[in-house]
Amino acid sequence: MHPLGRPRKACDDRRVDVSPIPGLEHLPYAEVWFHEVDEERFGEASAKARALDKDGLEVWTTDRTPEVATFLAARGYEQVRRYVISELDLAAAADLGPPGRPLTSLAERPDLERALYELALECYPDQPGREGSSIGSFEHWRSWGLDPHPPDACFVALEGARPVGYGYLEVEDGQARHGFAGITRAARGRGLIRAIRLAQIAWAREHGFPTLRTANEARLTQMLALNEQQGYVRLYDELVLRGPLARRIAP
Ligand SMILES: CC(C)(COP(=O)(O)OP(=O)(O)OC[C@H]1O[C@@H](n2cnc3c(N)ncnc32)[C@H](O)[C@@H]1OP(=O)(O)O)[C@@H](O)C(=O)NCCC(=O)NCCS
Repeated sequence: MHPLGRPRKACDDRRVDVSPIPGLEHLPYAEVWFHEVDEERFGEASAKARALDKDGLEVWTTDRTPEVATFLAARGYEQVRRYVISELDLAAAADLGPPGRPLTSLAERPDLERALYELALECYPDQPGREGSSIGSFEHWRSWGLDPHPPDACFVALEGARPVGYGYLEVEDGQARHGFAGITRAARGRGLIRAIRLAQIAWAREHGFPTLRTANEARLTQMLALNEQQGYVRLYDELVLRGPLARRIAP
């Protein structure tokens, strides 16, 4: 996923990669993934965070390894976000019909890039638990938030001529995933995200992808309800916890 959503690398269990939180670099936490944890890994992550001038960690883990959250809870860590990972089996999924709302795509309307940046500026900090996020300049944002993704799978909801929402798909290693989606505050609650989802599902099917994966913060009850209605199956949850560093070991 893009740098302001879930961290991309969740794969290497042994390396302890610690970095400032993308978009939330001002916070006193550094980000790290733990699929397993012990005093040694925790100590290493803490030392690396200290070297970045941070005094806490934002740890990503999953409910498939509950012992990680238990280890951290005993050290004062609390959950700050939770992402539900769900998947749609495109071969088995029912035909959900056309979007039923006026949509275009970035491939059809490359002139909308600036308007999408304005939307992104409004919507990124509205994600639960990501208040205060910064997406950076237009050029920086497009380098991770737009350019790497197929423009014909980036759908834009229009009200008259005005873009009021967008959502893109990420394609990597032959897999398709929902990337960020946002609807302008004034246009929320009108079912526009459903239309974008339907267009994305149709695109993924037409392009022969077997599945479509999504990650939704657990407080986005409308997205979880939509997942269920559209036939997505809940796979597991990613947990995000924050807490203090391990005590410094005396030399
Ligand atoms: C999350 C977001 C994209 C939702 O977009 P939206 O178009 O306002 O979504 P809606 O409120 O219309 O909800 C979608 C559907 O869920 C239904 N719904 C809403 N709340 C619900 C609830 N608590 N339980 C069940 N269904 C619910 C709606 O009725 C709608 O169904 P419909 O299409 O049949 O009308 C939007 O709020 C947003 O941009 N938030 C900030 C950015 C963000 O968090 N993005 C992450 C997206 S993963």
